[in-house]
Amino acid sequence: MNRGYPDRHLVVIFGATGDLAHRKLIPALHEIEKSAATQGRAIILGVARASHTDDQYRRLVIESLGKSAQADPRVVEWVNRSIFFQSLGDQSRYAYEALRVRIEQIERSRDLPGNRIFYLALPLPAFAPTVESLGAVGLDRGPGWTRVVIEKPFGHDLASAVSLNALLHRHHDEQHIFRLDHYLGKETVQNLIAFRFGNALWEPIWNRDRIACVEITAAEELGVESRGAFYEKAGAVRDIIQNHLLQVVGLVAMDPPAGIDGTSVSNEKLKVLRSIAPLREDDFILGQYAPGEAGGKTLPGYLEEPGVAPDSRTETYAAVRLAINSWRWEGVPFYLRTGKRLPRKTTKIVVTFRCPPPAVFNPYIVCGNESNRLTITLQPNEGFNLAFQVKIPGEGMRLHTQEMRFRYADTFGTLPEAYQTLLLDVMRGDHTLFVRNDEVETAWQVCEPLLRPGVPLHSYPAASWGPRQADSLVEPAGHTWVNQ
Ligand code: BG6
Repeated sequence: MNRGYPDRHLVVIFGATGDLAHRKLIPALHEIEKSAATQGRAIILGVARASHTDDQYRRLVIESLGKSAQADPRVVEWVNRSIFFQSLGDQSRYAYEALRVRIEQIERSRDLPGNRIFYLALPLPAFAPTVESLGAVGLDRGPGWTRVVIEKPFGHDLASAVSLNALLHRHHDEQHIFRLDHYLGKETVQNLIAFRFGNALWEPIWNRDRIACVEITAAEELGVESRGAFYEKAGAVRDIIQNHLLQVVGLVAMDPPAGIDGTSVSNEKLKVLRSIAPLREDDFILGQYAPGEAGGKTLPGYLEEPGVAPDSRTETYAAVRLAINSWRWEGVPFYLRTGKRLPRKTTKIVVTFRCPPPAVFNPYIVCGNESNRLTITLQPNEGFNLAFQVKIPGEGMRLHTQEMRFRYADTFGTLPEAYQTLLLDVMRGDHTLFVRNDEVETAWQVCEPLLRPGVPLHSYPAASWGPRQADSLVEPAGHTWVNQ
């Protein structure tokens, strides 16, 4: 990982008036500015269709930073000194020419060396035209380095991801492209590398000899809220499985990388993705939430949400059984599931170890429930639990499942926001926590069978753990979903 001081640069945020910019990017840039090591390294140019002046945009930025920041003169001074706005109006060639002139002006006035980050906080259909328009006015090259950040979803399917990659590569080298998946910036996800390879304990048992199955769950309590129109075109597979969860699978299942750098880590994740056996129809279950009840309140079904078609077939739940055909994982099922309107928000990895030979303890121990289990909670309540057996004091040999617990909050307090970590890495040119072109394409390839028309869609009541049919994925191997 490159931990040096970032070069001085300009961050150009497309979609600067949008939700992502206000909720995540501006607060993250503000946090970065607060650190002595990175202070004064970035000037920000917000770009959007709106016709704000610099001052109008600065007021919006100050608002989005919240009350305490608004009252802090240092924040106001930073915003006035470092943030600019340029309207893209009709997004014509002329508007992009004007953008180029504005960028050069700001760089001259702030004595910047011409290093540029173009952050595309835009919806998917806007990625390609924006990359092309930047290229058309020569903004794909600059006097310093030029980096492009692309948010997920990267494409809509394999074919669109391939063509987006081809377009990007016509204008930028892979080393200047940063495909962002915010899961990779979460401390707990980064910790998977430290946890697995910084401890001698795990590596010898992290394989098919000792592990019975791995379950990765990303459950959300909320429904689609106001994002119905977006979600209709996405669904759980495109929104979570293809990117966030397959990236987590990569980190959990990969071999030790040659080093902690972008190329080495991506090489290993790619190897995992390539080893996933093509999914058959009985390897996945898709679902959609129906009305339900929680805490005495009635919850609407997906079809009643604003922006959703009354006959929508979009899945809000997906559960998948993956087989990774490698020396390390042959025969170990990886169960993935995600859903909106499940009982609570939790993202976790549950690694269930094989049972010890039961003979010694017969008839005290029943294999299945009492195998060792490592639960890595990615959020909330970040940390891990390791379940193991102890003897209950007293007569006889009676066993009890006990847990060792680690909670980040107890040791480290509040964790940094993913966007802060990731933006800083883009500034430093560090690819370790980003997704390479071949990874993204292979992940789409894995998901293709899930996206075919006609896949059955099962209903589940809001606030339940998803369609009961999902049990058919885990039951054949004698496993159960871990719902606590
Ligand atoms: C986003 C999805 O990528 O991740 C959202 O588009 C989802 O639908 C969100 O709610 C979940 O992120 P997190 O960090 O809250 O788990």
